[in-house]
Amino acid sequence: MENKQIVKVAKNLYWVGVVDWNIRDFHGFTVPKGVSYNAYFIDGEDPTLIDTVKDGFGEELLKKISTITDPKNVKNLIVNHIEPDHSGCIEMVLKACPDAKIYASEVAKIGLEKYFDIDREIIVVRTGDEITVSGRRIQFVEIPMAHWPDSIVSYMPDEKILFSSDAFGQFIATSERFDYEMDTPPYEDASVYYANIILPFNHYVVKTVEAMTKFNVTPEMILPDHGIIWTKHIPDIFNHYVSWATGACAKGVLILYDTMWKSTEKMSEHLYNEITKRGVDVKKIKLRNTPLSTVVNAIMHSKVVLIGSPTMNDTIFPSIGTLLSYIQGLNPGPNRVWSAFGSYGWGGGAVEHIVKFYKENQYELVAPAVEAKFKPNCEEYGELTKLAEAVVKKIEEMKE
Ligand code: FEO
Repeated sequence: MENKQIVKVAKNLYWVGVVDWNIRDFHGFTVPKGVSYNAYFIDGEDPTLIDTVKDGFGEELLKKISTITDPKNVKNLIVNHIEPDHSGCIEMVLKACPDAKIYASEVAKIGLEKYFDIDREIIVVRTGDEITVSGRRIQFVEIPMAHWPDSIVSYMPDEKILFSSDAFGQFIATSERFDYEMDTPPYEDASVYYANIILPFNHYVVKTVEAMTKFNVTPEMILPDHGIIWTKHIPDIFNHYVSWATGACAKGVLILYDTMWKSTEKMSEHLYNEITKRGVDVKKIKLRNTPLSTVVNAIMHSKVVLIGSPTMNDTIFPSIGTLLSYIQGLNPGPNRVWSAFGSYGWGGGAVEHIVKFYKENQYELVAPAVEAKFKPNCEEYGELTKLAEAVVKKIEEMKE
């Protein structure tokens, strides 16, 4: 049986990462399946560690390295990305590996020196730079903003192995390490991960794919810092990334709403019925009990998004306010169109708030928002029907 603790990836190349089975909240991102923090180790005359793991798992990482070689022998530490889930134990690792040279991007160098007590020089690498470790060439490509400004990928061109950092990751805790070990490749997990981590950087994803092509980075194995290693399904995951980055994956309508005394819920039901009976697929999500990470993935896969909120104390309902705050940074505005609906009792406020948000963030409105006092009457149901008709027309136009 193969060792599942230290997994051989290729000759003298091992996964030495850790699996965080218990985590359910990754800096606010709901992760019902847990997370793995992947690190990789190249053995040979120049033992080299590629990335580390989150604080609290450093001892486990070092224990794994110790079963291959004494950490004191480690010659190089390549830091593809400085976010603390990959660098949180770096001080412990540096202490255990006193002779390891650190390689990182210029931005990573600044970040590492600010975040941590780094006891040695950091060697800055740029796109096109190459080092040789244990007789194997490693090239670097900067991929700023996928996920942070410091991000790079490391590539072994002779073996076509890409250490992709956050890119192509998934938040799943599993003892399987390769895509071919899974019953179904984890595209859905990769999609949720993309929607919550990479979405603001769509433009950079497209540029990264272009840069990888330009620098002849054509991997046959992708080793991300989270989740499983891609081997058999690389063209598929590449195609998914392009589809998510360009909005090509978006289909149908998404109704997101919350409700106090069911008036906004009635409005959402009317919209749902009027759109589906015209032959368009609709997904309807009540926000209060749905993790935002799930909601954002649903937004990424929709052409039209309708957000409904009751007015509470002259303003937006709290769960809808949280949604708007969450998506403001993720910026799913482009590649889809939007509108709003909602109810109020005394004075309005919620719908106006949502529309203002759309305008301030340059989201395209598909049709005017609809507001109902107390509960929707005939006239207000008529306005919702008009909104539904405009949505269906837009969906038809977007197909062309
Ligand atoms: Fe997995 Fe951007 O850290």
